[in-house]
Amino acid sequence: MTDVRVKAEQAFKAHFGANPEFLSYAPGRVNLIGEHTDYNDGFVMPCAIGFGTAIAARKNGTDTMRVLAVDIDGDTDSFKVTSDMDRHPDKTWSNYLRGVTKLICDKGYKFEGLDLAICGDVPLGAGLSSSASLEVSFGNLVSQAFGLNIDLQDIALIGQAAEAFIGCKCGIMDQTISACGKDGCALRLDCRSLEKVHVKVPAGLEVLIVNSNVKHALVGGEYNERREQCENAAKILGVKALRDATMDMLNAKKDAMDDVTYRRARHVITEDDRVLAAVSAFEKGDLDELAKLMYASHCSMRDDFEITIPEIDGLVEIIREATDGKGAVRMTGGGFGGSVVAVLPPSDVEKVKAAIDAKYEKIAGRKATIIETKACDGAVFTTL
Ligand code: GLA
Repeated sequence: MTDVRVKAEQAFKAHFGANPEFLSYAPGRVNLIGEHTDYNDGFVMPCAIGFGTAIAARKNGTDTMRVLAVDIDGDTDSFKVTSDMDRHPDKTWSNYLRGVTKLICDKGYKFEGLDLAICGDVPLGAGLSSSASLEVSFGNLVSQAFGLNIDLQDIALIGQAAEAFIGCKCGIMDQTISACGKDGCALRLDCRSLEKVHVKVPAGLEVLIVNSNVKHALVGGEYNERREQCENAAKILGVKALRDATMDMLNAKKDAMDDVTYRRARHVITEDDRVLAAVSAFEKGDLDELAKLMYASHCSMRDDFEITIPEIDGLVEIIREATDGKGAVRMTGGGFGGSVVAVLPPSDVEKVKAAIDAKYEKIAGRKATIIETKACDGAVFTTL
């Protein structure tokens, strides 16, 4: 398979009839643990993956971005560089670029138009942050091409705000890991202070992603609804965010909230503890402990946060069974479809693959896609 960077450069030449001046790339991510904790000011532990979004570009001397989306069937769009940005009525892919452009303008930075060819290989709707990789790749490109020197964490914040421009009130995890990931490491991110600690993936363990091929869509109801439920719980508990609450505090106020609100809060409060415990299990290379924590995280997403679906629950159980209950596995990402992530010794990978081949189609009516990856670096910009 040809690298997306090469494809973006080739497509640029063919479409714009000139050589690109710049090449920007940012990866997708897989979250190892800490789901729906980021917008509650809590902790997460994602890593960047070996799939991402490449953009080949050249300044065009106008006030307009002209864009070719190589893998959206060669679709195109153009829009002015301005704060006064409209959303495109149906080109969602372009709205990420429009949002990032608007947000950089809003910060008072001055820049001009680019011709752009975009090519990505993060599977869409798989819970692996294809949109964050596009936002970060594009934001960093604009910053570097025009010498704006916007720091990578700020690029991530711009990407997050672009999601809100489109309609998803997401947290800061995806864009931060896409911008700041480090080869061979997961990131322990404190989503309040944005403090980062790179934690080495233990030697002898492999990250395996299994895409259920049930697509999820975060722009829309259920994600924002979960966020509101969490904010409501924090209000009832009298804390700034659920990060500041403990299970004792929640139990003391159990009668002041409905059962759904209680369970949403329980997921977030216990998940924050699991992230911190998983970081230390990672540091010790303690796979048994990691497996316990990841499965507890999965059950909490399934029963309390209610964001898993039967196909995903089935995949998790198939992988657990294939590893005699020892495999570290859970759903990853926003939920309602998407992927599961497993951390396994390489010797388990073949039997896990065989079990998925034998059993998943029967429960889901479709095949799963297995993605082997290592933890990768974050955003990279090159002048060609
Ligand atoms: C999506 C959002 C993130 C995070 C996860 C759930 O990926 O973009 O901010 O909330 O869902 O952990």
